[in-house]
Amino acid sequence: MAAGFTYQNGSLHCDEVSLADVVAQVGTPLYVYSGASIRAAFAALDGALSASRHTLHYALKANSTLALLRLIRGLGAHADANSGGEIQVARRAGFEPAEIVFTGVGKTVDELDLAVGLGVKAINIESDGEAARIDRLAQARGLRARVALRVNPDIDPNTHAHISTGQRFNKFGVPIEHAPALLREMARRPGLEPVGLHVHLGSQLVEMAPLIRAAHALAGLARAAREMGVPLQHLDLGGGLGIAYGGEAAPDPVHYANAIAPIVAATGLDLLLEPGRYLVGPAGVLVGCIADLKRYPGSPRFMVLDTGMTELIRPALYQAFHRIGAVTPRAGDDHVYEVVGPLCETSDTLGHQRRFGPVEVGDPIAIFDAGAYGIVMASNYNRRRQPAEVLIDDGRWQIIRQRQSYDDLMAREV
Ligand SMILES: Cc1ncc(COP(=O)(O)O)c(C=O)c1O
Repeated sequence: MAAGFTYQNGSLHCDEVSLADVVAQVGTPLYVYSGASIRAAFAALDGALSASRHTLHYALKANSTLALLRLIRGLGAHADANSGGEIQVARRAGFEPAEIVFTGVGKTVDELDLAVGLGVKAINIESDGEAARIDRLAQARGLRARVALRVNPDIDPNTHAHISTGQRFNKFGVPIEHAPALLREMARRPGLEPVGLHVHLGSQLVEMAPLIRAAHALAGLARAAREMGVPLQHLDLGGGLGIAYGGEAAPDPVHYANAIAPIVAATGLDLLLEPGRYLVGPAGVLVGCIADLKRYPGSPRFMVLDTGMTELIRPALYQAFHRIGAVTPRAGDDHVYEVVGPLCETSDTLGHQRRFGPVEVGDPIAIFDAGAYGIVMASNYNRRRQPAEVLIDDGRWQIIRQRQSYDDLMAREV
């Protein structure tokens, strides 16, 4: 069986199910996910790391729809949560506290207390102040909180500036040269048990060299910590493994694993990774319908969809490229279109200068590789309802999140 999204008999299918059929029953905008694609990506990365002691903590921020979390947990993944809400949804999906790492800049006292009370596997500390707050909360409960220190190694990952997180001018973590002093201080605090180090350079990384440098930096710091009498248990190298959105070279999981796992193995510590996009990005498409087609002298041909930045903000937010194609392409002359959404923002453009054969209003159009950072960033701007989501698995499809109703939109207003 072909996993993921393929054209069969001239029409787009997901794991052998016709998307045109699903769209006819559920309507658009609609996210469709391939269970087989998620399973294949997990197996590829987990398999590539099989020679080393490792745990994959799926980064919920990429997509935290409950049915997908249950599927991913079933594969053996643990969780990386980035907010109190993500801890709650992880728990609802069945992740045990000991399977959750809690990351995030600007965690509130309530969120920290939730994590301390649950006894998560590690809270990734972002600052001296946060260390002090966790210590106080843990002592108030008579507990020792397991904590890891998030280090900012000042390494340029060569990705888009908005998703780069490990340089000195980024808000994340503590500068690596300050880390030994803070680790010593953490070890001294009765409410803290330092268990690891954490780094996350950014997302959609396609070069190995920055990841290798970061792994060496963390391994060196772990050795220094041991010499200081602060033995640790794990090194968490974050997420970031990129995918091929448009034919560019994307890292191969075996290459990635071979590059970083030996560096961590040499320290004797466990390796944690927090993949998000790699597991779910290619496993999802956003399907919209053509709402209008127009062309006037001196202007481009516009293909206006019934979906846009409210469902998928990546193109508007960081000029992200997504392949776009008709669900059931017609034969005939093709034309170049600006593929735009219905929102009253010029940045609501999903694709520039895309070539399509004959199209008509009402045709379903698929935006590919939309499984990560799609639905999780959806908004109600222009009072639009958030879309339905469908999971196709084992040759069957089911709605895993209903489209919002207009009542949902106004439910909490007086
Ligand atoms: C701390 C942390 N871990 C993991 C991830 C997941 O990254 P990705 O989806 O690129 O694998 C992110 C996202 O940027 C993150 O901030």
